Amino acid sequence: MAGQLSLRSLGKRLGTEVVGADLSRLDDDTFAEIEAVFRDHPVLVFREQKLDAHRLAAFGARFGHLREHILENYRHPDDPRVSFITNVAKDGSVDKFGVVRASSWHADETYDPPEKLPRLAILHAVEVPREKGGTMFADMYAAYETLPPAMQEKLAGMTGRHGYTDGPDARKIYTGKHIEERNAGRPECLHPAIKEHPVTGRKVLFVNPTHCHGFVGMSNEESEPLILELRDHSTRDELTYYHKWRVGDVVIWDEIATMHRGAADAAPEERRIMLRTIVHPN
Ligand SMILES: [Fe+2]
Repeated sequence: MAGQLSLRSLGKRLGTEVVGADLSRLDDDTFAEIEAVFRDHPVLVFREQKLDAHRLAAFGARFGHLREHILENYRHPDDPRVSFITNVAKDGSVDKFGVVRASSWHADETYDPPEKLPRLAILHAVEVPREKGGTMFADMYAAYETLPPAMQEKLAGMTGRHGYTDGPDARKIYTGKHIEERNAGRPECLHPAIKEHPVTGRKVLFVNPTHCHGFVGMSNEESEPLILELRDHSTRDELTYYHKWRVGDVVIWDEIATMHRGAADAAPEERRIMLRTIVHPN
């Protein structure tokens, strides 16, 4: 490609390494190039970066609006728009549950209504497990495009009902009490099962088994087999990318065009510290 950057494919469908960018001091032209690449490559990887909370927030803010984390104790003390994703407690102990947290397939925040959906998320690796502990991504354009035509047609008329982490896969990880407390007072949000991507206009399958608990006109029990069938279809090996983290990695992913999950395959006592920010459209 023209310009400063070069690209290297990491996975079959997803995962594109961008070589030649220092995210701590980006000029406008290089950022424009990154934004153009991101449109066609929904998971971008930048190696050997070193961003503090301010610089990570500054990079994210070029794409849109950053919101503070919903839970105060996740917020970074230097910039509340950046949060810690870690299994290391303040006293230095390692939370053994950390390895399974966020390990069911999801897109972030689909428990919010369509106008509040995030555009993208960014993770920056500060400390990573010695082995495994990756993050997986699924290509939801390809998930839609590889559905049988009859299923595409059926889903085009369906609307997903989403709640806070109470879809069929989330219920296997989180306790019922936790789910009910988080959902109290939170309205169910509706998203079409097939969504048009707001930037590219391409269709994506927009059903994730963490937040989508049913479809309009169907009970949760009736919906579950279809949610799980769509998950299995979307997350076949050929549609997914496993990102093995290195310290210094910055990964950005499109929140509409992909699903992701923590692979939950590291030893539970391995430390993992990431900085994260989620970007909403302006
Ligand atoms: Fe997530």
